[in-house]
Amino acid sequence: MYLPDDQRYDKMLYRRCGSSGLRLPAISLGLWHNFGGVDAFENMRAMLCRAFDLGITHFDLANNYGPPPGSAEENFGRALRADLGAWRDELIVSTKAGYLMWPGPYGEWGSRKYLLASLDQSLRRMGLDYVDIVYSHRPDPDTPVEETMSALDSAVRAGKALYAGISNYNPEQTARAVAVLRQLGTPCLIHQMKYSMFVRTAEQGLFARLAAEGIGGIAFSPLAQGLLTDRYVEGIPDGSRASKPGTFLKQTDVTEARLAQVRALNEIARQRSQTLAQMALAWVLRHGVMSSALVGASRVEQIEQCVDAVKNIEFTAEELQRIDEIAQQD
Ligand SMILES: NC(=O)c1ccc[n+]([C@@H]2O[C@H](COP(=O)([O-])OP(=O)(O)OC[C@H]3O[C@@H](n4cnc5c(N)ncnc54)[C@H](OP(=O)(O)O)[C@@H]3O)[C@@H](O)[C@H]2O)c1
Repeated sequence: MYLPDDQRYDKMLYRRCGSSGLRLPAISLGLWHNFGGVDAFENMRAMLCRAFDLGITHFDLANNYGPPPGSAEENFGRALRADLGAWRDELIVSTKAGYLMWPGPYGEWGSRKYLLASLDQSLRRMGLDYVDIVYSHRPDPDTPVEETMSALDSAVRAGKALYAGISNYNPEQTARAVAVLRQLGTPCLIHQMKYSMFVRTAEQGLFARLAAEGIGGIAFSPLAQGLLTDRYVEGIPDGSRASKPGTFLKQTDVTEARLAQVRALNEIARQRSQTLAQMALAWVLRHGVMSSALVGASRVEQIEQCVDAVKNIEFTAEELQRIDEIAQQD
């Protein structure tokens, strides 16, 4: 029987999510990859338990994570029943709906019909009465934002979610969604955005908007899906994301130019006595608006290494400048 480590809260940093009452671990674990029906259950079980032992309280899912879609939520439910479920009140579980999940006009985007049906399905797959955070996974250009946000508000009022969040909304879409949620009486807790040393779009207005509104940020793909680690320095290893079909990290993304940047960044990390993965996470966490860096992992050791990023999240101005010079080369 799994018993969590008594010292699990001693090393992790917990950061307030915007101006809410909720604190999130500086490192959270996402189940987009490596938790599907095609993956080994014992490995995911080991990763989830080790993550919790290391103070990771937040696990991020979505209706479509797998493959096949839905299987990550099923496996997470299985792991809850096997190990972590007794600690439900110490866990922050999130799910999302927005991308294609089932055929027909009600299986994706932002209608009330889709979002509420999807949340019910997610709860059934995970065997939960409620999730902690329900997200609109992407803005829907054809559905009034009032409808999408009122579906999130309804989910919270029905007790099926404790908080509402949005993901992949640009600054203007964020401002509108936040205003509608506030009017409905369910403030927007969190915004989940892609952000890493290689992907900086969020710096162009989104962070300022979140800070002004008191909304927490959580950065997804902070390791650029594995590129900002030592994973690809010697080529594309078997079993890595870039080696697998149907992922969003293509072999063609692992270019010589990219690897030259990775090696130069790796050198800065070495001088900071960190691994590149740790420096990449620390770099994301340096923003006051950032509640958490949301990592993925394929094995326990990766999680152990990532968690140690919190030991040093300070940067000198020279380090930041050097990182910008390297990471922003075309
Ligand atoms: N809201 C959205 O639209 C959206 C989109 C994408 C992701 N997300 C969320 O964000 C989470 C994280 O995304 P991501 O998986 O792309 O994040 P990531 O942390 O940038 O990449 C994770 C990958 O990096 C590698 N890795 C992790 N730690 C490592 C270490 N210490 N050393 C070497 N390699 C390491 C592993 O690759 P290998 O698998 O190759 O070992 C791992 O699968 C997802 O699970 C999901 O919850 C949300």
